[in-house]
Amino acid sequence: MSVLNALLQRNSAPRLQEPGPSPEHCQQMFQAALRAPDHGRLRPWRYLVIGGDDRAKLGEIYAQAELARDPNAPTEKLERLRGQPLRAPMVIVAIVNPTEKDGVPLQEQVISAGCGVHGLMLAAESFGYAGVWRTGPMATNDTVNQALGLASHESIVGFIYLGTRMGEAKKLPDLNTEDFVSHWQG
Ligand SMILES: Cc1cc2nc3c(=O)[nH]c(=O)nc-3n(C[C@H](O)[C@H](O)[C@H](O)COP(=O)(O)O)c2cc1C
Repeated sequence: MSVLNALLQRNSAPRLQEPGPSPEHCQQMFQAALRAPDHGRLRPWRYLVIGGDDRAKLGEIYAQAELARDPNAPTEKLERLRGQPLRAPMVIVAIVNPTEKDGVPLQEQVISAGCGVHGLMLAAESFGYAGVWRTGPMATNDTVNQALGLASHESIVGFIYLGTRMGEAKKLPDLNTEDFVSHWQG
């Protein structure tokens, strides 16, 4: 797959099944993520890989986080949260781990983390996997952050669900370049 094709064809897959990325493929996917543009080479990112039975533990953390927020949370909601990480063979938690540095504001470091996720997902697709980048309330929940071992200055930029696409890829939207790009002429 050429780089251009990968960029043009990337297509999120909300429904995922086994197999998830192999350890060898993961190694290369993370190497791709680590090539994210990075002002000051601060390396302001890190990743947690959650697979197998650990996905259910993450689901339990979600349920406990919701109970801490709302002790009367309905059972169905708790069950739905418990099941969320089981929607894919692998969930990668992408974390921005910023450093205070003159000239490299937090925003740039978050953008760099986002570029890392894009690289990771494109590499995954190049190996024939599919995935979807999700956040939702659990990405900014203190109970979840603590349980996953985030330091107070770190944040989750995404839960990256990865596996093999179920069903057909959705049709890619047709966007007009001109709607987003104009030539500034002073
Ligand atoms: C930072 C970020 C967070 C996102 N969070 C969610 C989410 O929580 N749930 C969701 O369905 N899509 C979420 N998305 C969007 C999907 O990852 C995906 O981009 C969208 O479904 C469009 O599909 P496409 O990327 O194939 O065009 C998020 C995207 C980004 C960049």
